[in-house]
Amino acid sequence: MSTPPFNLVLTGFMATGKSTIAPSVAARLGFECIDTDQAIEQRQGRSIASIFAEDGEPAFRALEATLCQELAERPQLVISTGGGTLLNPKSRALFLRTSLVICLWAAPEVLETRLSQGEGRPLASAWRALLKSRAPIYEELPHRIDTGRCTPAEATERIVELWKRRSSTETS
Ligand code: S3P
Repeated sequence: MSTPPFNLVLTGFMATGKSTIAPSVAARLGFECIDTDQAIEQRQGRSIASIFAEDGEPAFRALEATLCQELAERPQLVISTGGGTLLNPKSRALFLRTSLVICLWAAPEVLETRLSQGEGRPLASAWRALLKSRAPIYEELPHRIDTGRCTPAEATERIVELWKRRSSTETS
């Protein structure tokens, strides 16, 4: 296999636009798009909310970590993670080593509006406290894009540019 980055990982808090933007980035790069929440739901044959309700959050986190290990073995993926996926230090280190990791971001007032419109997120009611505790981890990630200040098309463009720049640096 050639030198990393093999994959592009979009991470960030709930409702920052990961699932919206990842497919258009994948289309631009000609990569396969994997949404970790969707992949887990398909494998389990039940929703994320059901997994949380029936098995608890630690069981969901274990499924996420296993999936990250598997995905890191495969090249040419755009991986859209759940908002908590990279809080796992092993998964974070793994993707930072093998992938270009980009963190999507949005101001709290933007998140509040988006989260009030979405459904099925088991941790949505605790979002303010979660954001506060997670912010230091997201802030350490190498690239951040504020999706409250640009359109999904503009965010896609910036991500593709970052990938091209990073890939050419890595191969030169
Ligand atoms: C979670 C975010 C969700 C999903 C699960 C847990 C989190 O994904 O993985 O409900 O811990 O932030 P989104 O970020 O796509 O909402």
